[in-house]
This record gives sequence, C-alpha cells and structure tokens, in this order.
Amino acid sequence: MRKGEKAILLGITAFVVVVMAVKAWMVSQDKEKDPGIPFYSTASPELAREASVLYRKYKCRDCHALWGVRNIMQAVPAPSLDGMGSMRDEEWLYSYFSSENPQAILPSRLKPRFRMPSFAKIPEADRRKLAKYIASLKVEDWYLDEARKTAYEKLTGKDYRQ
Ligand code: HEC
Repeated sequence: MRKGEKAILLGITAFVVVVMAVKAWMVSQDKEKDPGIPFYSTASPELAREASVLYRKYKCRDCHALWGVRNIMQAVPAPSLDGMGSMRDEEWLYSYFSSENPQAILPSRLKPRFRMPSFAKIPEADRRKLAKYIASLKVEDWYLDEARKTAYEKLTGKDYRQ
C-alpha cells in the first residue's frame, strides 16, 4: 500500500468510527428523553384490589378501557378511564355514579344500550369506592391535553378545539 492510500484508508476508518459514535450517542439521548407511559394510579394496593373486583362485577370493562385494556368483544366508544382522575374529581364521579340519569350530567351521543348505565341502585359503599379509585387514575401533566382531547372526542364525536 502506498503512503497516500494508507492515509485515505485511515481517514475513512476514522470517519466511520466517528459517525457510529455520534449515532450511538443520539440513540442514548433519545432513550433518556422517552417519557414512558403517562398514566398512573395513586390508589393504595388495597383500594386497587377492591376496586378491580367491583370493576369486574359491574362490567365497567365491557365498555371502558383501563390501562389500555378493553374487552375485545365490545365495541362501545366509551371514553377510556386512564387518567380520568386528572379530569374529574372524586365528588363529581360519586354523583355521576349515583345519578338516576347520568346523561343529565353528561349528554350521550350513543344509542341507549351503549350509554353509561345508572349505578344509583348499587350499594353506596361500592359507588364511593369506585369514585375514589377512578379519581386516583392520573395522567402526567405533559399528556393531560392529549388525554382531554381523546376523552372529548370520544364523548362528543367532534374535533377538540381549545
Ligand atoms: C354499557 C356500557 C357502559 C358500562 C357498563 C359502563 N360505562 Fe361508563 N360510560 C359509558 C359511556 C358510553 C360513557 C360516555 C357518556 C355516555 O355516552 O353516556 C361513560 C362515561 C363514564 C364516565 C365519565 C367519562 C368522562 O369523560 O367524564 C366514567 C367516569 C365512567 N363512565 C365510569 C364507569 C364505571 C366505573 C363503570 C362500572 C361501574 C362504567 N362506567 C360502566 C359506557 C359504559
């Protein structure tokens, strides 16, 4: 190999090494910036356990998604409950679940059989527990607008404008 060729080869090698290092650095930066899943709950393990029993008992999951999971046999366009506690407080939830006619509080755009049922007749303790648990389902601030938009569009079928 001639001297000039060696220098070119060395130059190319150095260039490739630098490009790879920069790429690896960028990937590691991206990872640090990935904010992860924005939903979390502030409920105690005990409340979470009890609420999940009620959630199944009253078939909330036939219509709603929670932790991104929904019953695949159902196609009701009900709002997801993830982050609901950042949009509604416990008292609001309690009166909504206690109302004989939830649509008087939140109008529905759906056919009657898909609408939010009244839970006025279930034991008060169950309504309190569900309200407390749903109020504990929070969304990180950086995702709050997005969660609001999704909930609004589910509820009204209209585009969300701030
Ligand atoms: C038959 C389907 C169905 C079932 C079962 C059901 N929901 Fe709903 N829910 C809805 C729909 C649809 C809405 C949106 C309002 C409407 O269209 O009536 C709603 C609204 C809500 C809201 C208010 C959402 C918002 O954007 O403010 C909460 C909270 C809620 N449901 C919680 C529950 C809980 C907890 C249960 C179980 C105890 C439950 N739902 C059971 C269909 C259902």
